[in-house]
Amino acid sequence: MPHDLSPSLAPPDDLFAPRHYEGVRRPLLDAETLPPWCYTSEAFYRREVERIFRKIWNFIGRSDRVPEPGDFFTLEFAGVPLVVVRGHDGQVRAFSNSCRHRGSIVAEGEGNCRAFKCPYHSWAYGLDGALLGAPDMDATRGFDPRTHGLLPVRLETWGGFMFVNFDPAAESLAGYLGDLPRTLAPYAFDDMVCTRRVTYEVGCNWKTFVENAKEAYHIGTVHRNTIHKYASARSSGYWVQETQGQYVSTFAKHEGSMALLQGDAGFPKLASLTPETAAGTTAPLVYPSTYLGCTIDSAWYLEVHPLGAQRMRLIHGAMFPRAVLDRPDFQALAANYYKRWDITIEEDNVACDLQQRGLNSPFARAGRFSHREPLVHAIDNWILDRVLDA
Ligand code: FES
Ligand SMILES: [Fe+2]
Repeated sequence: MPHDLSPSLAPPDDLFAPRHYEGVRRPLLDAETLPPWCYTSEAFYRREVERIFRKIWNFIGRSDRVPEPGDFFTLEFAGVPLVVVRGHDGQVRAFSNSCRHRGSIVAEGEGNCRAFKCPYHSWAYGLDGALLGAPDMDATRGFDPRTHGLLPVRLETWGGFMFVNFDPAAESLAGYLGDLPRTLAPYAFDDMVCTRRVTYEVGCNWKTFVENAKEAYHIGTVHRNTIHKYASARSSGYWVQETQGQYVSTFAKHEGSMALLQGDAGFPKLASLTPETAAGTTAPLVYPSTYLGCTIDSAWYLEVHPLGAQRMRLIHGAMFPRAVLDRPDFQALAANYYKRWDITIEEDNVACDLQQRGLNSPFARAGRFSHREPLVHAIDNWILDRVLDA
């Protein structure tokens, strides 16, 4: 077949017509990758926000970030400003961070407070969102403070991981996760603490990053001087696990901890591991964008906030069992893990940046998959299932 050497045209007008994606729908070894516009088009991104991020359970970090009543933090997820706060009753809740008077942001940053006071006209809200005070509103006819609290957003947790859902009709988090909590039970996440969060702004589409996180094909190239030389190079097996729920997962069998570079000292194995989980690393991706690395002595998460077609925020969270935090050598040993994570994240971010630049070329076009990229194909098809026109 002759090669088509002309530059690709702009994305088609009927961007979500299934016929443009037939190549992606084929079985892995016959399939094509997503067309480049999926990673660059604002219209494609807006459809993902509407059909995916505003509908599904989105990971927003660990509940140990707000340990005490009154502890709060704010964030904007897929264009929705949120405030997350632990109430006097110990419950963590999320609210739309938009004042019920004339819409101002109510809370900024993070900290501890007894109530939220809107910076515009001083309406005050309790930790449960209730409107506590609204100055000079007593003459306003029919105004009921009880129906003017901050709007709650569904927040549910599993194992200390917090997820929000903007769709009141969505299934529960437990239903969404399926058998993931059972698969990961040996890691005892309720007993883990996030000891460090590092935030990156990455100039790529969120899918660029997520696809990278779920294939090991790039490790021999991108991480050739780091993890390729260590745990992963000695992997005696790497396979896709059976899953039931909105996630995919791999298991890598190897010696030592996946979270340390060779020769570095670390913590003992988690006491709760089964013989199977003690043999390597479980790495699920909760659809569509939450990666968890669960290895023999620690765990880490990648929290992805899509910011636009070609921009995302990445938060890397480091997790250790509560018990090791009391060790006098905790900081010294934890630094070995942080070093390994910092190096490989940077390597992946560079790869994603290069890929994103190349995808912007008018000559970029759909490619083909290796047999080592089954989950990239699965993720891309999960997305198409939700964004394409029926
Ligand atoms: S907008 Fe919040 S008090 Fe006016
Ligand atoms: Fe990587």
